[in-house]
Amino acid sequence: MPSNVIVGLQWGDEGKGKITDLLSKNSDYVIRYQGGNNSGHSIHIKNRYFILHLIPSGVIYPHIKCIIGPGVVIDPKSLIKEIKDLESIGINTSQILIAKRAHITMPYHRLLDEYKEEALGDRSIGTTHRGIGPTYEDKIARIGIRILDFLNLKIFYKKLKDNINYKNYIFKKIYKKKPLSFNSIYEEYIEYAKILYPRIIDSVYELHEAFKKGKKILFEGAQAMLLDINYGTYPYVTTSSTSTGGVCIGTGIPPTFLKNFIGVAKSYCTRVGSGPFPTEINKNIIRDIIRKKGNEYGSTTKRPRRCGWLDLVSLQYSCMINDIHYLIITKLDVLSELEFIKVCIEYRKNGKKLPYFPANIEYLEKEEQVEAIYIDFPGWKKDISHIHEYENLPKNCKKYINFIESYLKLEILLISIGSERNQNVIKNTSSFFQIFS
Ligand code: IMO
Ligand code: MG
Repeated sequence: MPSNVIVGLQWGDEGKGKITDLLSKNSDYVIRYQGGNNSGHSIHIKNRYFILHLIPSGVIYPHIKCIIGPGVVIDPKSLIKEIKDLESIGINTSQILIAKRAHITMPYHRLLDEYKEEALGDRSIGTTHRGIGPTYEDKIARIGIRILDFLNLKIFYKKLKDNINYKNYIFKKIYKKKPLSFNSIYEEYIEYAKILYPRIIDSVYELHEAFKKGKKILFEGAQAMLLDINYGTYPYVTTSSTSTGGVCIGTGIPPTFLKNFIGVAKSYCTRVGSGPFPTEINKNIIRDIIRKKGNEYGSTTKRPRRCGWLDLVSLQYSCMINDIHYLIITKLDVLSELEFIKVCIEYRKNGKKLPYFPANIEYLEKEEQVEAIYIDFPGWKKDISHIHEYENLPKNCKKYINFIESYLKLEILLISIGSERNQNVIKNTSSFFQIFS
Protein backbone atom coordinates (compact mmCIF):
# COMPACT_ATOMS: atom_id res chain seq x y z
CA MET A 1 0.00 0.00 0.00
CA PRO A 2 1.48 3.34 -1.04
CA SER A 3 1.76 5.10 2.28
CA ASN A 4 4.66 7.20 3.53
CA VAL A 5 5.30 8.52 7.01
CA ILE A 6 7.58 11.47 7.73
CA VAL A 7 8.83 12.06 11.26
CA GLY A 8 11.37 14.29 12.94
CA LEU A 9 14.19 12.49 14.74
CA GLN A 10 15.57 15.16 17.07
CA TRP A 11 13.83 17.89 19.10
CA GLY A 12 11.74 19.31 16.26
CA ASP A 13 12.45 21.92 13.60
CA GLU A 14 14.35 19.48 11.40
CA GLY A 15 12.81 20.92 8.25
CA LYS A 16 9.96 18.41 8.01
CA GLY A 17 7.73 20.97 6.24
CA LYS A 18 10.03 21.26 3.24
CA ILE A 19 10.35 17.48 2.93
CA THR A 20 6.61 16.89 3.31
CA ASP A 21 6.01 19.56 0.72
CA LEU A 22 8.39 17.75 -1.67
CA LEU A 23 6.84 14.35 -1.03
CA SER A 24 3.26 15.51 -1.02
CA LYS A 25 3.24 16.56 -4.67
CA ASN A 26 2.51 12.98 -5.73
CA SER A 27 0.21 12.10 -2.86
CA ASP A 28 -3.58 12.03 -2.80
CA TYR A 29 -3.81 12.71 0.92
CA VAL A 30 -1.59 14.40 3.51
CA ILE A 31 -2.56 13.77 7.12
CA ARG A 32 -1.46 15.36 10.39
CA TYR A 33 -1.91 12.82 13.18
CA GLN A 34 -0.70 14.42 16.43
CA GLY A 35 0.29 17.69 18.07
CA GLY A 36 -1.42 20.99 17.43
CA ASN A 37 -0.45 24.54 16.58
CA ASN A 38 2.71 24.14 18.65
CA SER A 39 4.43 23.10 15.43
CA GLY A 40 5.66 25.45 12.76
CA HIS A 41 6.35 23.94 9.34
CA SER A 42 7.85 26.33 6.81
CA ILE A 43 7.02 25.80 3.19
CA HIS A 44 7.68 27.83 0.09
CA ILE A 45 4.52 29.20 -1.51
CA LYS A 46 4.45 31.64 -4.42
CA ASN A 47 7.94 33.03 -3.74
CA ARG A 48 7.43 33.46 -0.05
CA TYR A 49 7.77 31.38 3.05
CA PHE A 50 4.65 30.38 4.81
CA ILE A 51 4.58 28.81 8.26
CA LEU A 52 1.92 26.16 8.72
CA HIS A 53 0.92 25.30 12.27
CA LEU A 54 -2.07 22.99 11.91
CA ILE A 55 -2.67 22.57 8.20
CA PRO A 56 -0.83 19.68 6.51
CA SER A 57 2.04 20.74 4.25
CA GLY A 58 0.33 19.41 1.09
CA VAL A 59 -2.07 22.34 1.03
CA ILE A 60 -0.52 24.17 -1.90
CA TYR A 61 -1.49 21.38 -4.30
CA PRO A 62 -5.22 21.62 -5.05
CA HIS A 63 -5.58 17.90 -5.84
CA ILE A 64 -4.52 16.84 -2.32
CA LYS A 65 -6.94 16.22 0.50
CA CYS A 66 -5.38 17.60 3.67
CA ILE A 67 -6.79 16.03 6.81
CA ILE A 68 -6.23 17.25 10.33
CA GLY A 69 -6.54 13.87 12.01
CA PRO A 70 -8.24 12.57 15.17
CA GLY A 71 -5.01 12.60 17.19
CA VAL A 72 -4.47 16.34 16.65
CA VAL A 73 -5.64 19.03 19.05
CA ILE A 74 -7.19 21.96 17.21
CA ASP A 75 -7.28 25.57 18.25
CA PRO A 76 -10.08 26.79 15.95
CA LYS A 77 -9.05 30.43 16.16
CA SER A 78 -5.56 29.59 14.99
CA LEU A 79 -6.85 27.22 12.28
CA ILE A 80 -9.29 29.78 10.86
CA LYS A 81 -6.54 32.41 10.75
CA GLU A 82 -4.26 29.99 8.92
CA ILE A 83 -7.00 29.19 6.39
CA LYS A 84 -7.72 32.90 5.82
CA ASP A 85 -4.01 33.70 5.41
CA LEU A 86 -3.69 30.99 2.76
CA GLU A 87 -6.82 32.22 0.97
CA SER A 88 -5.46 35.76 0.97
CA ILE A 89 -2.57 34.60 -1.22
CA GLY A 90 -4.85 32.71 -3.57
CA ILE A 91 -4.50 29.16 -2.20
CA ASN A 92 -7.55 26.94 -2.57
CA THR A 93 -8.42 25.69 0.91
CA SER A 94 -11.51 23.63 0.10
CA GLN A 95 -9.54 20.41 0.52
CA ILE A 96 -8.71 21.08 4.18
CA LEU A 97 -10.77 18.64 6.24
CA ILE A 98 -11.05 18.13 9.98
CA ALA A 99 -11.54 14.88 11.86
CA LYS A 100 -14.59 14.62 14.09
CA ARG A 101 -12.62 12.98 16.85
CA ALA A 102 -9.95 15.69 17.17
CA HIS A 103 -10.06 17.62 20.44
CA ILE A 104 -10.60 21.36 20.65
CA THR A 105 -8.20 23.72 22.39
CA MET A 106 -10.14 26.26 24.43
CA PRO A 107 -9.00 29.61 25.92
CA TYR A 108 -8.74 27.97 29.37
CA HIS A 109 -6.20 25.50 27.96
CA ARG A 110 -3.96 28.32 26.81
CA LEU A 111 -4.28 30.01 30.21
CA LEU A 112 -3.61 26.79 32.10
CA ASP A 113 -0.50 26.20 29.99
CA GLU A 114 0.77 29.63 31.05
CA TYR A 115 -0.19 29.30 34.74
CA LYS A 116 1.31 25.82 35.04
CA GLU A 117 4.57 26.96 33.52
CA GLU A 118 4.64 29.94 35.86
CA ALA A 119 4.04 27.66 38.85
CA LEU A 120 6.85 25.32 37.81
CA GLY A 121 9.36 28.19 38.00
CA ASP A 122 12.85 27.00 37.10
CA ARG A 123 11.50 23.52 36.38
CA SER A 124 9.25 24.87 33.64
CA ILE A 125 9.12 22.91 30.36
CA GLY A 126 9.39 25.99 28.16
CA THR A 127 6.20 25.09 26.31
CA THR A 128 4.89 27.05 23.35
CA HIS A 129 1.99 28.34 25.56
CA ARG A 130 -0.47 27.17 22.91
CA GLY A 131 -2.50 25.11 25.41
CA ILE A 132 -1.42 21.81 23.87
CA GLY A 133 -0.58 19.98 27.12
CA PRO A 134 -3.82 20.99 28.92
CA THR A 135 -5.92 19.99 25.87
CA TYR A 136 -4.39 16.50 25.88
CA GLU A 137 -4.77 16.37 29.69
CA ASP A 138 -8.52 16.91 29.31
CA LYS A 139 -8.67 14.31 26.58
CA ILE A 140 -7.08 11.71 28.86
CA ALA A 141 -9.22 12.88 31.79
CA ARG A 142 -12.25 12.22 29.53
CA ILE A 143 -13.63 15.72 29.84
CA GLY A 144 -12.35 17.10 26.53
CA ILE A 145 -14.57 18.75 23.94
CA ARG A 146 -14.26 17.31 20.47
CA ILE A 147 -14.77 18.74 17.00
CA LEU A 148 -17.91 16.60 16.65
CA ASP A 149 -19.44 18.58 19.52
CA PHE A 150 -19.51 21.52 17.10
CA LEU A 151 -22.18 19.55 15.21
CA ASN A 152 -24.59 19.59 18.12
CA LEU A 153 -24.56 22.93 19.87
CA LYS A 154 -26.76 21.74 22.74
CA ILE A 155 -24.14 19.18 23.69
CA PHE A 156 -21.37 21.71 23.09
CA TYR A 157 -23.14 24.17 25.42
CA LYS A 158 -23.42 21.61 28.20
CA LYS A 159 -19.83 20.37 27.93
CA LEU A 160 -18.46 23.89 27.81
CA LYS A 161 -20.53 24.93 30.81
CA ASP A 162 -19.26 21.99 32.89
CA ASN A 163 -15.69 22.60 31.82
CA ILE A 164 -15.75 26.32 32.54
CA ASN A 165 -17.27 25.76 35.98
CA TYR A 166 -14.54 23.30 36.77
CA LYS A 167 -11.74 25.41 35.29
CA ASN A 168 -12.92 28.54 37.08
CA TYR A 169 -12.74 26.66 40.36
CA ILE A 170 -9.11 25.75 39.59
CA PHE A 171 -8.28 29.29 38.42
CA LYS A 172 -9.65 30.82 41.63
CA LYS A 173 -8.59 28.27 44.23
CA ILE A 174 -5.24 27.12 42.90
CA TYR A 175 -3.85 29.84 40.69
CA LYS A 176 -5.60 32.83 42.33
CA LYS A 177 -6.62 34.10 38.90
CA LYS A 178 -9.75 35.70 37.52
CA PRO A 179 -12.59 33.38 36.39
CA LEU A 180 -13.59 33.20 32.73
CA SER A 181 -16.89 34.27 31.27
CA PHE A 182 -18.89 31.37 29.87
CA ASN A 183 -20.98 33.56 27.58
CA SER A 184 -18.17 35.23 25.73
CA ILE A 185 -16.35 31.93 25.11
CA TYR A 186 -19.57 30.23 24.01
CA GLU A 187 -20.39 33.08 21.60
CA GLU A 188 -16.86 33.08 20.19
CA TYR A 189 -16.78 29.30 19.69
CA ILE A 190 -20.18 28.94 18.03
CA GLU A 191 -18.91 31.36 15.40
CA TYR A 192 -15.92 29.04 14.86
CA ALA A 193 -18.29 26.07 14.69
CA LYS A 194 -20.26 27.78 11.90
CA ILE A 195 -17.11 28.50 9.92
CA LEU A 196 -15.57 25.03 10.32
CA TYR A 197 -18.77 22.98 10.05
CA PRO A 198 -18.48 22.13 6.30
CA ARG A 199 -14.98 20.74 6.77
CA ILE A 200 -15.82 18.22 9.48
CA ILE A 201 -15.64 14.56 8.38
CA ASP A 202 -15.32 11.05 9.75
CA SER A 203 -11.70 10.74 8.75
CA VAL A 204 -11.44 7.13 9.88
CA TYR A 205 -13.83 5.91 7.18
CA GLU A 206 -12.47 8.39 4.64
CA LEU A 207 -8.94 7.01 5.12
CA HIS A 208 -9.91 3.35 5.11
CA GLU A 209 -11.80 3.95 1.85
CA ALA A 210 -8.80 5.77 0.43
CA PHE A 211 -6.53 2.84 1.27
CA LYS A 212 -8.99 0.43 -0.36
CA LYS A 213 -8.86 2.50 -3.53
CA GLY A 214 -5.04 2.43 -3.50
CA LYS A 215 -4.66 6.17 -2.93
CA LYS A 216 -1.24 7.54 -2.00
CA ILE A 217 -1.24 8.71 1.55
CA LEU A 218 1.37 10.71 3.38
CA PHE A 219 1.38 11.07 7.15
CA GLU A 220 3.11 14.21 8.37
CA GLY A 221 4.63 14.09 11.84
CA ALA A 222 4.91 17.17 14.00
CA GLN A 223 7.46 17.79 16.76
CA ALA A 224 9.92 14.89 16.90
CA MET A 225 11.10 11.70 18.54
CA LEU A 226 12.98 13.23 21.46
CA LEU A 227 9.85 15.25 22.33
CA ASP A 228 7.68 12.11 22.37
CA ILE A 229 5.53 11.76 25.51
CA ASN A 230 6.67 8.16 26.13
CA TYR A 231 10.15 7.88 24.62
CA GLY A 232 11.45 11.45 24.60
CA THR A 233 13.47 13.29 27.25
CA TYR A 234 10.57 13.18 29.73
CA PRO A 235 9.31 15.44 31.31
CA TYR A 236 10.82 17.92 28.84
CA VAL A 237 8.64 16.71 26.01
CA THR A 238 5.41 17.53 24.26
CA THR A 239 2.20 15.63 25.05
CA SER A 240 1.64 13.43 22.01
CA SER A 241 3.13 10.34 20.35
CA THR A 242 5.47 11.79 17.77
CA SER A 243 6.81 8.50 16.42
CA THR A 244 5.75 6.40 13.43
CA GLY A 245 3.75 4.39 15.99
CA GLY A 246 1.73 7.56 16.66
CA VAL A 247 0.25 7.36 13.15
CA CYS A 248 -1.97 4.41 14.10
CA ILE A 249 -3.04 5.99 17.38
CA GLY A 250 -3.75 9.31 15.72
CA THR A 251 -5.62 8.16 12.62
CA GLY A 252 -7.31 4.80 13.22
CA ILE A 253 -5.14 3.07 10.61
CA PRO A 254 -3.64 -0.34 11.49
CA PRO A 255 0.19 -0.69 11.50
CA THR A 256 0.02 -3.12 8.55
CA PHE A 257 -1.14 -0.27 6.27
CA LEU A 258 2.08 1.71 6.69
CA LYS A 259 4.94 1.28 4.28
CA ASN A 260 7.86 3.73 4.08
CA PHE A 261 9.15 5.37 7.24
CA ILE A 262 11.15 8.48 6.43
CA GLY A 263 13.09 10.20 9.19
CA VAL A 264 14.33 13.78 9.02
CA ALA A 265 17.35 14.96 11.00
CA LYS A 266 19.30 18.18 10.83
CA SER A 267 23.06 17.96 10.24
CA TYR A 268 23.42 19.44 13.73
CA CYS A 269 20.96 19.66 16.66
CA THR A 270 18.68 22.33 18.05
CA ARG A 271 16.17 22.50 20.83
CA VAL A 272 13.70 25.15 21.97
CA GLY A 273 12.46 25.16 25.51
CA SER A 274 14.11 23.56 28.51
CA GLY A 275 15.53 20.10 29.00
CA PRO A 276 18.59 17.98 28.44
CA PHE A 277 20.80 18.57 25.43
CA PRO A 278 24.12 16.71 25.80
CA THR A 279 25.73 18.16 22.66
CA GLU A 280 24.65 21.75 23.24
CA ILE A 281 27.24 24.37 22.32
CA ASN A 282 27.33 26.99 25.02
CA LYS A 283 27.57 30.58 23.98
CA ASN A 284 30.47 30.89 21.53
CA ILE A 285 31.14 31.99 18.00
CA ILE A 286 30.33 28.58 16.47
CA ARG A 287 26.93 28.52 18.12
CA ASP A 288 26.28 32.01 16.80
CA ILE A 289 27.30 31.06 13.25
CA ILE A 290 24.96 28.05 13.28
CA ARG A 291 22.09 30.05 14.76
CA LYS A 292 22.49 32.87 12.27
CA LYS A 293 23.13 30.82 9.13
CA GLY A 294 20.47 28.26 10.07
CA ASN A 295 18.00 30.97 11.11
CA GLU A 296 17.51 29.04 14.32
CA TYR A 297 14.69 31.03 15.85
CA GLY A 298 11.39 29.37 16.78
CA SER A 299 8.87 29.58 13.93
CA THR A 300 6.00 29.43 16.43
CA THR A 301 7.37 31.41 19.37
CA LYS A 302 10.35 33.27 17.79
CA ARG A 303 12.59 32.12 20.66
CA PRO A 304 16.28 31.69 19.75
CA ARG A 305 16.90 27.96 19.50
CA ARG A 306 19.64 26.27 21.50
CA CYS A 307 22.20 24.84 19.07
CA GLY A 308 24.60 21.92 19.28
CA TRP A 309 26.48 19.22 17.40
CA LEU A 310 24.91 16.22 15.72
CA ASP A 311 24.22 13.56 18.35
CA LEU A 312 24.42 10.09 16.81
CA VAL A 313 23.61 8.35 20.11
CA SER A 314 20.15 9.87 20.31
CA LEU A 315 19.71 9.70 16.52
CA GLN A 316 20.35 5.96 16.55
CA TYR A 317 17.78 5.59 19.34
CA SER A 318 15.25 7.60 17.29
CA CYS A 319 15.87 5.57 14.12
CA MET A 320 15.42 2.37 16.12
CA ILE A 321 12.10 3.36 17.70
CA ASN A 322 10.68 4.63 14.44
CA ASP A 323 12.18 1.83 12.30
CA ILE A 324 13.44 4.44 9.88
CA HIS A 325 13.91 3.05 6.36
CA TYR A 326 15.08 6.25 4.73
CA LEU A 327 17.02 9.06 6.32
CA ILE A 328 16.97 12.66 5.16
CA ILE A 329 19.63 15.08 6.37
CA THR A 330 18.73 18.77 6.27
CA LYS A 331 20.55 22.09 6.48
CA LEU A 332 23.97 20.67 5.62
CA ASP A 333 24.79 24.05 4.02
CA VAL A 334 24.63 25.67 7.49
CA LEU A 335 27.90 23.94 8.44
CA SER A 336 29.79 25.13 5.35
CA GLU A 337 31.65 27.98 7.06
CA LEU A 338 33.01 25.94 9.96
CA GLU A 339 36.72 24.97 10.33
CA PHE A 340 35.75 21.70 12.00
CA ILE A 341 32.57 19.79 12.79
CA LYS A 342 32.00 17.58 15.80
CA VAL A 343 29.80 14.52 15.97
CA CYS A 344 28.83 12.82 19.20
CA ILE A 345 29.37 9.06 19.02
CA GLU A 346 29.11 7.99 22.65
CA TYR A 347 27.77 9.04 26.05
CA ARG A 348 29.94 8.47 29.13
CA LYS A 349 29.13 8.62 32.83
CA ASN A 350 31.97 8.56 35.37
CA GLY A 351 34.29 7.66 32.51
CA LYS A 352 32.22 4.62 31.46
CA LYS A 353 30.38 4.26 28.15
CA LEU A 354 26.61 4.06 28.52
CA PRO A 355 25.20 1.09 26.63
CA TYR A 356 21.89 2.85 25.86
CA PHE A 357 20.33 6.24 25.37
CA PRO A 358 19.33 6.84 29.02
CA ALA A 359 15.69 6.88 30.07
CA ASN A 360 16.37 8.93 33.19
CA ILE A 361 16.78 12.57 32.44
CA GLU A 362 18.93 13.08 35.51
CA TYR A 363 21.65 11.52 33.36
CA LEU A 364 20.99 14.03 30.67
CA GLU A 365 20.73 17.19 32.73
CA LYS A 366 23.12 19.94 33.78
CA GLU A 367 25.63 18.89 36.46
CA GLU A 368 24.66 15.23 36.20
CA GLN A 369 24.63 15.30 32.43
CA VAL A 370 26.41 12.54 30.55
CA GLU A 371 29.65 13.43 28.87
CA ALA A 372 29.32 13.54 25.11
CA ILE A 373 32.31 12.00 23.31
CA TYR A 374 33.02 13.47 19.89
CA ILE A 375 34.84 12.76 16.69
CA ASP A 376 36.10 15.85 14.86
CA PHE A 377 35.75 16.22 11.12
CA PRO A 378 37.52 18.87 9.06
CA GLY A 379 35.12 21.41 7.55
CA TRP A 380 34.73 21.84 3.78
CA LYS A 381 34.67 25.65 3.84
CA LYS A 382 32.83 25.94 0.53
CA ASP A 383 29.36 26.99 -0.44
CA ILE A 384 27.41 23.83 -1.31
CA SER A 385 23.98 25.36 -1.66
CA HIS A 386 23.93 25.12 -5.48
CA ILE A 387 25.11 21.49 -5.78
CA HIS A 388 22.68 18.81 -6.98
CA GLU A 389 24.87 15.77 -7.56
CA TYR A 390 26.22 13.88 -4.59
CA GLU A 391 29.51 13.31 -6.44
CA ASN A 392 30.05 17.06 -6.66
CA LEU A 393 29.95 17.66 -2.90
CA PRO A 394 33.36 18.50 -1.37
CA LYS A 395 35.39 15.50 -0.15
CA ASN A 396 35.13 16.47 3.53
CA CYS A 397 31.40 16.87 3.21
CA LYS A 398 31.04 13.35 1.82
CA LYS A 399 33.24 12.03 4.64
CA TYR A 400 30.81 13.53 7.16
CA ILE A 401 27.80 12.03 5.39
CA ASN A 402 29.44 8.61 4.99
CA PHE A 403 30.28 8.54 8.67
CA ILE A 404 26.64 9.20 9.63
CA GLU A 405 25.53 6.39 7.33
CA SER A 406 28.03 3.88 8.63
CA TYR A 407 27.32 4.73 12.28
CA LEU A 408 23.56 4.37 11.81
CA LYS A 409 23.86 1.52 9.27
CA LEU A 410 21.32 3.38 7.21
CA GLU A 411 21.49 4.93 3.79
CA ILE A 412 20.75 8.61 3.37
CA LEU A 413 18.10 9.23 0.76
CA LEU A 414 18.36 12.96 0.32
CA ILE A 415 20.38 15.88 1.65
CA SER A 416 18.79 19.29 1.86
CA ILE A 417 21.21 22.16 1.23
CA GLY A 418 18.92 25.19 1.40
CA SER A 419 15.34 26.18 2.00
CA GLU A 420 14.30 26.41 -1.68
CA ARG A 421 12.29 23.47 -2.95
CA ASN A 422 15.01 22.47 -5.45
CA GLN A 423 18.01 22.81 -3.12
CA ASN A 424 18.54 19.09 -2.62
CA VAL A 425 21.12 16.46 -3.31
CA ILE A 426 19.44 13.15 -4.05
CA LYS A 427 21.78 10.51 -2.74
CA ASN A 428 19.84 7.35 -3.43
CA THR A 429 18.15 8.03 -6.76
CA SER A 430 16.32 4.74 -7.22
CA SER A 431 14.75 4.78 -3.74
CA PHE A 432 13.98 8.45 -4.16
CA PHE A 433 11.99 7.91 -7.34
CA GLN A 434 10.31 4.86 -5.92
CA ILE A 435 9.00 6.89 -2.97
CA PHE A 436 8.54 10.28 -4.58
CA SER A 437 6.77 9.28 -7.78
P1 IMO B 1 7.75 21.33 14.97
O1 IMO B 1 6.62 20.50 14.44
C1 IMO B 1 10.30 22.43 18.29
C2 IMO B 1 8.69 21.95 22.34
C3 IMO B 1 8.50 23.21 23.16
C4 IMO B 1 8.72 22.66 24.58
C5 IMO B 1 8.07 21.28 24.49
C6 IMO B 1 6.65 21.22 25.03
O2 IMO B 1 7.86 22.68 14.38
O3 IMO B 1 9.03 20.55 14.90
P2 IMO B 1 4.33 22.13 24.07
O4 IMO B 1 3.90 23.52 23.71
O5 IMO B 1 4.29 21.15 22.94
O6 IMO B 1 3.66 21.59 25.31
O7 IMO B 1 5.88 22.31 24.51
O8 IMO B 1 8.08 20.92 23.12
N1 IMO B 1 8.03 21.96 21.02
C7 IMO B 1 8.67 22.10 19.86
N2 IMO B 1 9.97 22.35 19.59
N3 IMO B 1 9.46 22.26 17.26
C8 IMO B 1 8.16 21.95 17.52
O9 IMO B 1 7.33 21.58 16.51
C9 IMO B 1 7.71 21.92 18.85
N4 IMO B 1 6.51 21.71 19.44
C10 IMO B 1 6.72 21.73 20.77
O10 IMO B 1 9.45 24.19 22.83
O11 IMO B 1 10.10 22.48 24.80
MG1 MG C 1 8.92 24.28 15.41
